[in-house]
Amino acid sequence: MADLPKVKVSFNNDYSKAKLLVQNINIKKDIGEVNISFALGDFVVDRAYLSNDENYHVFEVYDSKTVQQYEFKDFNDLRVQTSQLDDYTLQIDKSIAIPLHGTLLVGQTGSGKTYALYSLILQMITKKVQYNLYFADPKNSSLAVLGDKISEENTATDIDEIIKLLQSFVEKMESRKFEVKEMLNTKLEADYTDFQYEPHIFIFDEFASFQSIIQTMEKKKRDELTKLLSQVILQGRQLGFFLWIVMQKSDASLLPTNLRENLPVKFVLGNAEKQTYVTAFGAGVDIPEKDFVLGQGVLTCPVIADTARICHFSYLDFDILEAVTHLRS
Ligand SMILES: Nc1ncnc2c1ncn2[C@@H]1O[C@H](COP(=O)(O)OP(=O)(O)OP(=O)(O)O)[C@@H](O)[C@H]1O
Ligand SMILES: [Mg+2]
Repeated sequence: MADLPKVKVSFNNDYSKAKLLVQNINIKKDIGEVNISFALGDFVVDRAYLSNDENYHVFEVYDSKTVQQYEFKDFNDLRVQTSQLDDYTLQIDKSIAIPLHGTLLVGQTGSGKTYALYSLILQMITKKVQYNLYFADPKNSSLAVLGDKISEENTATDIDEIIKLLQSFVEKMESRKFEVKEMLNTKLEADYTDFQYEPHIFIFDEFASFQSIIQTMEKKKRDELTKLLSQVILQGRQLGFFLWIVMQKSDASLLPTNLRENLPVKFVLGNAEKQTYVTAFGAGVDIPEKDFVLGQGVLTCPVIADTARICHFSYLDFDILEAVTHLRS
């Protein structure tokens, strides 16, 4: 006689999402590894895990017909959405919001990396807590234009300026370390958010083009830079200092493996080659097969997405530069 597992389904209010529980009847095959999306009609699996009591395989599924992307008609629309979250969390799409972390954003040209930054930067500058943003744009493209509007003194495009900006970022981090040391001693496991410290984020677009210039420099200089970057990546989390690296491919030759591995959040936007996924997420990564549209891709993030999860950055149906100019004046 066949032993059939119990199956339970609970939907959300508008039936766009559901939690599917399949009883763990200890069959030889691990059902959590089985692709069940094909059996769910328009629904696809977003996350799969074993319930705490290990009695059920849990599949969080969503209707692939419902668009996860936000479309903001104007800046105010985005602000209203942003105000739903706490000061240290950013909205990615309708089902994903992530806490601030060091971040790697990868994708081939035109996949929407810089544009994704815009939707995140706009959220940051409307938060109640002041965000201190630093912009490095070695190709002097559109991010530098936005950076000049938001924080001209912290926007750099040529290599020497970028190095200086990074040094001053690390100096500020060092002085905060000193400042919070006493505070942190008053509370175990505390971090900067517990004391309402302002986050500092160093946004580094076109990182590969920076690295290719750095690699022509003397070894001493190169080592010095790698040290600065790893200082931020390793010590910044608790202090509220984050590095965001944006590049087309995260090959070890352009982004040292130990730096990459210590960036907790990783995005790969657009349709990328297998090798791009492997260098971003590590070997053995399982990417949902899908034809990604503009602004769509996958992410991993502690707690929120332990395995690669589909995400879709917002569409901003307004003049971004004008919105920022207006806000600043
Ligand atoms: N989420 C999105 N929704 C709608 N349109 C988008 C989205 N993301 C990007 N685009 C459009 O695609 C174009 C290319 O995006 P973007 O410049 O961000 O690519 P990129 O990954 O930074 O490329 P590069 O590596 O060449 O700098 C943008 O001009 C924008 O109009
Ligand atoms: Mg770009």
